[in-house]
Amino acid sequence: MTESRNTHTPAGLTDMLVDECEAKFKIETAAKEVFAHHGYHMVQPPTFEYYDVYDAAVTKAENMFKFFDNNGRMLALRPDLTTSVARIAATKPLGELPYRIAYSGSAFRNDEAFSNARQREFSQVGIELIGDGSAAADAEVIEISIEALLKFGITDFQIDMGQVDYFKGLSELAGLDTEQSDTLRAKINDKDFVAINAILERLNISESLKAAFCEMPKLFGDIDIVEKELKNDILSNKSRAALENLMQVYEILKDKGLEKYIAIDLGMVPNLDYYTGIIIKGFAKGVAFPICSGGRYDNLTAKFGRELPATGVAMGIERVMTVLSDGVCTQGDTASQYITVALAKGRLAELSIEIFERLGFDVSEMKSKTRKLIFTDEKNKFKFILVKASDVPVYVEYGAADIGVVGKDTLLESGKDVYELLDLGFGRCKMAVAGPASMRGRLDGRNIMRVASKYPHIARDYFHRVKGQTVDIIKLNGSVELGPLVGLSEVIVDIVESGKTLKENGLEVLEDVCELSARLIVNRVSLKIHRERILSLVDDVKRELKED
Ligand code: PRP
Repeated sequence: MTESRNTHTPAGLTDMLVDECEAKFKIETAAKEVFAHHGYHMVQPPTFEYYDVYDAAVTKAENMFKFFDNNGRMLALRPDLTTSVARIAATKPLGELPYRIAYSGSAFRNDEAFSNARQREFSQVGIELIGDGSAAADAEVIEISIEALLKFGITDFQIDMGQVDYFKGLSELAGLDTEQSDTLRAKINDKDFVAINAILERLNISESLKAAFCEMPKLFGDIDIVEKELKNDILSNKSRAALENLMQVYEILKDKGLEKYIAIDLGMVPNLDYYTGIIIKGFAKGVAFPICSGGRYDNLTAKFGRELPATGVAMGIERVMTVLSDGVCTQGDTASQYITVALAKGRLAELSIEIFERLGFDVSEMKSKTRKLIFTDEKNKFKFILVKASDVPVYVEYGAADIGVVGKDTLLESGKDVYELLDLGFGRCKMAVAGPASMRGRLDGRNIMRVASKYPHIARDYFHRVKGQTVDIIKLNGSVELGPLVGLSEVIVDIVESGKTLKENGLEVLEDVCELSARLIVNRVSLKIHRERILSLVDDVKRELKED
């Protein structure tokens, strides 16, 4: 059934009704009051501008809504407000420097994943402090963020500070080219330990530098991390200056009694073209995405003809609303809270349960033949839930589960935003292109080819991105091998474990796509809130697997 276009809004866009509007209005008003109190003045940039204004390095071109004016010039709906504010600061008379600018309004992203926390139209309030390159300016932005969050009624949250120059310094020292550096950066930012190790293995750099990159995703927690890193002999002046900058900002915030809201995450390394110094992200339980984010971006205004150091933060109003409506804004003592582990029903759950049992968890009920779906280990304060494999990344992304055990195939297919902390080594198999022997050597360059798969995203990514072929992907839900046998498709992209299914159906592997195995994944916010308990579990599992 086609949806009625005159009664439905497009996906990712929503009508805000009376109660929500009131809640939103309250948040905006509270934010504006805090901003004004600190001397920030509102500006209102246009909703859309020339496409060239926005930075495709920050929001990918395909994630912007683009259209044309009557002269054929490309326009885009603003994907954020910071870029427009930077353009205003560089080109308009705003009085004496530094400029303290505030804004409030909608931004638009043409993303595929929509949820309460990720809409195609979302509202932001934020501030930019432009023309001041000091640590005090960064501290001011963080102080105001904290004050605003408290005023919204969120009392238990955490602002993470990172510094991109720490990574840049290491990357320069290692002599990485732009591509190597960016690939490694992205994996460190995702805390994807498995991929980081694979990249480092291929790089011809010193063991001590490899160790430093490898450690980066674990360098989060309190300020001790920075103090300890300052003693690391291998660091260049750039990395060291980055750490000193973090210390300075921390000291200023401490003097104001705000240190309890601050945490460090040196493994937070988003886009390096945009950010030039400190980066900040605010987290609260109840939303899987940061409720505020920002940092220093000293190169942006130069794009509009005037070099000005700048720092700022944007707060996601819908995300703040979700935190407040969930009533989980006060977390209390995290040690007494349950950690929830989502296990993919079937073989992976059985193997995971064995490991948890060997680690001393109470899994007796899970091992009994029951149809229950939630199991509690009171002693260790752990809950286990049994879910369909493809749902594990969903539970973890949304924070309904803190930890998940799932196959890399499911994880890749889901495209979910979670940390991948460990390759558990079991459930080993591979993703491959398979078909009849007659297709051997006939895959390349063929665009007119039908590919059946339970994994359309993986199949598309392999053919489109890796091989540069635009093929027709047909999504099936099982028994994919039938595709070529009954003429539905020429080839399939599927899991091959023993190879028996292919053999018995007269098919063979034509190309390998990637190796697969079970992975331990963690929710981004949970890893911060339960850092000690989760990392110690990861260490225990690692040790147990080694002894196996
Ligand atoms: C998986 C996969 C292959 C088969 C591979 O299917 O999709 O069909 O296992 O294993 P093998 O190489 O050891 O023969 P699954 O058993 O999950 O059933 P499905 O095809 O119905 O999804």
